[in-house]
Amino acid sequence: MAKAVEVGRSYRLNLPEELIIMLLNEQTGYFHQVPGWELNCAVVGAVLAELSIRSRIDTDVDSLILVDSTETDNPVLDSILKQIADESQPRTAQYWIERLAVQAESIIDSTLERLVNLKILKHYDGDFWTLIPTKWYVDLDGNTEERNVGQLIKTRIREVIFTDSIPGPRDAIVVSLVNTCDVFRFIYELDERAENRIRFVCKVDLIGRSIATAVEHNIASPLLRRSRLAKEIPSVAMGRLLFNPHLRKGNLPALLADLTRHYGPVFAIRVPFKQPMIFVSGPRINRWVHRHGRLHLRARDYFVDFEKVYGASGVLPSLDGGDHFRLRRIMSPAYSRARLEGQLDQIFHYARRSMADWKAGDALPARRTCRRMINAQISPLALSVDSQDLIDELVKYKERALNVHIAKVLPKFMLSTPGMRRRAHTIDALLERVQSVHTPAQRSGCPRDLADDWLGLHASDPQLMPESNLRFALSAALVASVYLGDALSFAVYAMAAQPAICERIRSEADALFGDEDPGRDDFTPESMDVTSRFLTECLRMYPIVPLSMRDVMNSCVVEGYELPVGSRIFIAQTAAHYMDDVFPEPFSFDIDRYLPPRNEHRSPGYAPYGLGTHRCLGSRWMDLQLAINVLMIAHYFRVELSPANYALRFSPLPSMKPSSNLKFRIAEQRRELPG
Ligand code: HEM
Repeated sequence: MAKAVEVGRSYRLNLPEELIIMLLNEQTGYFHQVPGWELNCAVVGAVLAELSIRSRIDTDVDSLILVDSTETDNPVLDSILKQIADESQPRTAQYWIERLAVQAESIIDSTLERLVNLKILKHYDGDFWTLIPTKWYVDLDGNTEERNVGQLIKTRIREVIFTDSIPGPRDAIVVSLVNTCDVFRFIYELDERAENRIRFVCKVDLIGRSIATAVEHNIASPLLRRSRLAKEIPSVAMGRLLFNPHLRKGNLPALLADLTRHYGPVFAIRVPFKQPMIFVSGPRINRWVHRHGRLHLRARDYFVDFEKVYGASGVLPSLDGGDHFRLRRIMSPAYSRARLEGQLDQIFHYARRSMADWKAGDALPARRTCRRMINAQISPLALSVDSQDLIDELVKYKERALNVHIAKVLPKFMLSTPGMRRRAHTIDALLERVQSVHTPAQRSGCPRDLADDWLGLHASDPQLMPESNLRFALSAALVASVYLGDALSFAVYAMAAQPAICERIRSEADALFGDEDPGRDDFTPESMDVTSRFLTECLRMYPIVPLSMRDVMNSCVVEGYELPVGSRIFIAQTAAHYMDDVFPEPFSFDIDRYLPPRNEHRSPGYAPYGLGTHRCLGSRWMDLQLAINVLMIAHYFRVELSPANYALRFSPLPSMKPSSNLKFRIAEQRRELPG
């Protein structure tokens, strides 16, 4: 068993772990793309080989035999060992590889989890991974070097491939496994000699040979089976769409859930003279998009016309692959919860300043009030400028551009009307305002903001972040604040509509804001239990971004339907929010669905922040800022709906928001706002 000696601790890596580490591509933050069958065979082969090295099983040409059924220290190995022990007749290694291949995904999940717990791998939102460098003893004199485990394993395997040394059994198996996945050419520069050597080493071990045979015998059939068995994508009947009650209310996720119930997880809406709109939805689809979407779907195409409106190209939401990962990694501290936690006093200050205008008896338009309240906080925090005078124009422009170029519900000339041309200049006004306060002398001693990060990246890497992308990047932060503002409107609506829950939020608010303002350590899961579950339920019932768009770059079969290359896909990730097999009684507002053992949010069906590589980078920041605003409103005011029997309606395009006639009435000011 390979022993990696790390300064301060030591641990043993097993073969599935070594394989997963070898497959990680550090440039893209993801794994080298290995066709499913090969990967599954390799992963299961790694488990069998580990059991063989630990003398639990033995293999010869005809059979794989159980030698010792004593449990190991690893549940993944034990589960496979038990299945072998329970088998009544002897089987070959190839039989076991083929039979167990379906379990490969859960083996990979457990292996990744263990590597994260061991602090060997770091996991990022969006399902990206990197290896964590640590100090290692590199010789017997106690000299140390900063390396990650991947470098150590790759150095060991390099020795095997590029020298004539006799490989140990473990290294021979790693070579077979990686060769099965066909990724050596991405890791080393191979010449003919090295390729011959790999072929030779692969023959040394019987399990390695069985994996290769299993792959060869099966590789063709799944690929060929694919399109022959694919089902035809059903088309939605216009009557079913137009007469759906949720369409009238504007509740897009509930409408899509109804269509999914009727047509299945993949269906098409065909509008005459337009490309069919293929929708995919449901928890299994969500899981597929999250885990495998990056191999088949691309973000660039649907976004290209929209970013062009801003003069931009290759901005964060439209990048794919390695560049996307690099940009996301560089920018993630700027969107983190920690960044917000460092400036809580500012949030409290600006929130109170907005609420200072609220008087008992006032009926306030929910959407406008909440959007301005949030923008008043995000604008100084993210960009160090006030933009209350610009935000309405910026948002109108962006919503028009989204409706023209993304939702495609308006013709192109609607973006060139005199009003829209005037609004386009607002973006330049914002850019000038931000740049004028971001000179080195003015920023000296100030807490870092998002604009510092974008401008700094532009200065240090103008290819990744060209000047032409600054208009988009800087205005996007304010436009994202509108999403947060709309989420706050829904939350205030839900508090006003459910006074009993509101009372429980108020108790948490009074405890947190009672004597003095809370600090960053005070916002714990316990101190905000009801508030957090309440907001989780708000984002389920009222998701701001109900669907995402992508284009198919590699055709694939999902849930038995083939998604053809080049087609545009609408991922209805929040349709599952209204499916009763994921969220029982989906139309009832129930914050207890997030308590154990129900934990309904831990399903792939819960996706208010999107799925996969582009999952919202600001989600943790967002959760905290939303909670603070809800708590502060509950602490200072009692709000009611106006009128009291108001029935919620949505305005779903280009993002979900309450309709503009939602108002809340200040029923009582509970305490004075500090000056
Ligand atoms: C209720 C509020 C919000 C919701 C529901 C939300 C939701 C989302 C969703 C669904 C996506 C993925 C879109 C896709 O896959 O095409 C996304 C991406 C993103 N969000 Fe949010 N968001 C919110 C607020 C914010 C805020 C306040 C910020 C920043 C301050 C932010 C920053 C981002 C960024 C940077 C991305 C792009 C990530 C990437 O492409 O890699 N979001 N958001």
